[in-house]
Amino acid sequence: MSGTKLYEGKAKILFTTNDPNILLSRYKDDATAFNALKKGTIANKGEMNCAIASHIFQYLEIQGLATHFIKQVSPNEMQVAAVKILPIEVVVRNIAAGSICKRLGLEQGQPLKQPLVEFFYKNDDLGDPLITDAHVAMLDLATPEQAAQLKQLALDINQHLQTFFDRCNLILVDFKVEIGVDVKGKLLLADEISPDTCRLWDKAIADPSDRIMDKDRFRQDLGNIAEAYQEVMKRVLAA
Ligand code: TMP
Repeated sequence: MSGTKLYEGKAKILFTTNDPNILLSRYKDDATAFNALKKGTIANKGEMNCAIASHIFQYLEIQGLATHFIKQVSPNEMQVAAVKILPIEVVVRNIAAGSICKRLGLEQGQPLKQPLVEFFYKNDDLGDPLITDAHVAMLDLATPEQAAQLKQLALDINQHLQTFFDRCNLILVDFKVEIGVDVKGKLLLADEISPDTCRLWDKAIADPSDRIMDKDRFRQDLGNIAEAYQEVMKRVLAA
């Protein structure tokens, strides 16, 4: 049962529930890119991402990682723990793609020597700029201890997700996570893990466009977007 709307983001809406420690997260079909300069919808995305994220959160919990996930309550809704989201988007990269190629002149598809963790300031007005630990401290976005924990948590999540997606015949190129702090001060993986927030390439396809199974199909107008999400969902739910 959903209460009042707390917050509407680009891909989800958060509602209160009868329990102050529990929120309802409703996944939307809306898709945006480039800080919402590009807008559209992907048919059935809300249900597909909710199913994918629910499955992955449960997998990570079994692996011993703490997430905000409580339970899926409808095709496009899940109950989550009420947390305070840290205003830091944590990106982990295994292969060069997207913004790092533009920023550093790397070739798309170039494997990185080791996983790279990057922090971005979660601020739409500023276009989510890349920041360093010094900026995190200066802006009081997290304590130094939390920043160190965030990096380790992101690397742990990466290891588990790489193993998981490998079983789905998908290569985890990179992904973004958001971390929340619960009432006890504990860090929990929050937001979502889905083809909106991960770059996933089909292991069996060599063509650089055809292998893309994530929101880059929307960002780059590659077509067959919903079909790619559907295929990811099928493989995730079977893994
Ligand atoms: P980037 O290459 O554009 O920096 O994106 C890195 C990863 O983060 C990629 O998997 C897509 C994801 N991402 C989001 O989930 N939300 C965002 O707003 C952006 C810019 C990227």
